[in-house]
Amino acid sequence: TAGQAPDVRLILHRGFYLIPGVNSPVVVDQIQNWEIRDSDIFLITYPKSGTIWMQQIIILIEAKGNAMATAGKPNCERMPWIEVKGSEETFLQAPLSSPRLSVTHLPYRLLPVGLRQKKAKIIYVARNPKDALVSYYHFHHFAAVLETPKDFNDFFEKFMDGRVYGNTWFEHIKAYYSHKDEMNILYVTYEDMIQDLRSVVEKVCSFLDRELTDSQMASVVEHARFNNMVRNPSANYRQVSATLLNQQRGSFMRKGTVGDWKNLFSVAQSERFDKVFQEEMTDVPLSFKWDL
Ligand code: A3P
Repeated sequence: TAGQAPDVRLILHRGFYLIPGVNSPVVVDQIQNWEIRDSDIFLITYPKSGTIWMQQIIILIEAKGNAMATAGKPNCERMPWIEVKGSEETFLQAPLSSPRLSVTHLPYRLLPVGLRQKKAKIIYVARNPKDALVSYYHFHHFAAVLETPKDFNDFFEKFMDGRVYGNTWFEHIKAYYSHKDEMNILYVTYEDMIQDLRSVVEKVCSFLDRELTDSQMASVVEHARFNNMVRNPSANYRQVSATLLNQQRGSFMRKGTVGDWKNLFSVAQSERFDKVFQEEMTDVPLSFKWDL
């Protein structure tokens, strides 16, 4: 029925919604066979969970805190998306000497096989799904390639049904959780990053086997703070074309808080969400902070 339609601009490919013109079904088909190196670093998230934030942190860690590494071009050029058109060229032709940094929203089952055999390192960032939903709602006004929701309720229903790029939040996180032992994965939450950014950066460094001096560490943390990233065009993808992002209508660095869902969820929506969360997450011992 019309009420069940996904964003009209999305296409379902292998059971996963893709954004035409951005994501490439052909690449998604090939990705599974890409050769993975032990030195590869993958960032994996459900949309709106702090992807660019962790991109910024990883780029800074690799540059030993040198802020110049996050200037000039958008983070997505230094740490490219794998499910987009043309990604195979950058990925497969990257020199052996440098670690390849990649990012994806793909579900577990569509990852390169090597990643599912403990090759490479994966950092998975999760965010409480009520805040991810609200952030995603605003993002649908900002992203020119996505359909602007009629209203919040319209988007709420789409998110609950998984009729969005990323499919359902629950599917995404549950698949990564249940297969965690088959991957070399570090799990962190957005809320932990908000509460204690430095300890998360330290965890990422030790997972990646990178040692930073105190001042390098301080610089990574400093340049990954919201108030610095908001002023950094590269972290905001400001250089990305207007056909993809409507820079007048929003920003990647929107609010950066925990609990913003309370400004948009009705009591009934919140209760319904809690019930679904409880049912879906019965076998998943992950907990989230809904407020700080
Ligand atoms: P809000 O829309 O709630 O503000 P993604 O990069 O996965 O698209 O996630 C975007 C969300 O991460 C946005 O959430 C954005 O503000 C938040 N974010 C990005 N950098 C951040 C930072 N340094 N500190 C806090 N939140 C950050």
